Amino acid sequence: MVLTQYNYIIRKFNPNDLEAVIYINRTCLPENYSPSFFLEIYQNCPDGFLVAESENLSIVGYIMCRLELGFSEFKKLKLVKKGHIVSIAILPEFRRKGIAMELINKVLKFLNEKKIDECFLEVRTTNEPAINLYKKLGFSIVRTIPGYYLDGTDAYIMAMELHKT
Ligand code: COA
Repeated sequence: MVLTQYNYIIRKFNPNDLEAVIYINRTCLPENYSPSFFLEIYQNCPDGFLVAESENLSIVGYIMCRLELGFSEFKKLKLVKKGHIVSIAILPEFRRKGIAMELINKVLKFLNEKKIDECFLEVRTTNEPAINLYKKLGFSIVRTIPGYYLDGTDAYIMAMELHKT
């Protein structure tokens, strides 16, 4: 656990945090999931599900990541191990403090240690803050999925290569 200059800590999710994480998800994103979905992601990859907790012990943001096997976004027809950032959100009053950067960097460090080959995520082509964030961290847009979201918005798949063998 690391105490940062903004007085929050980043720590692993535990199932007692579920209600707070669901609240943030519903407040910040149109993509909402059932409680069992969050717990499935947690079981798939407990080290890739992190929360940011403020001084008064309230949770202000989360990231959740799933481990998958799939075709590389960078090398033709090569099966690779992938970390899939399924969801990330920070409560509005805690944004622009570097919390999302820190959450993603910690997940990337974990994926690198696990020798996962690539990390990827979906993002609305209209979500400029998130696209800027991912570009700043080294992700690039690798393809577009037309009409990916329920409201018809297109998604970018953004990805980055991790450890090189
Ligand atoms: N406009 C433009 N760029 C932005 C931005 C904004 N509103 N918010 C973040 N960024 C970019 C900037 O490059 C920023 O660096 P800077 O502050 O030095 O300029 C960088 O991202 C890091 O920002 P950070 O403070 O770590 O991000 P955050 O903690 O505010 O969280 C989101 C960013 C996207 C997670 C947050 O806005 C959010 O929860 N949005 C709603 C949920 C969402 O869209 N999730 C992503 C779904 S794919």
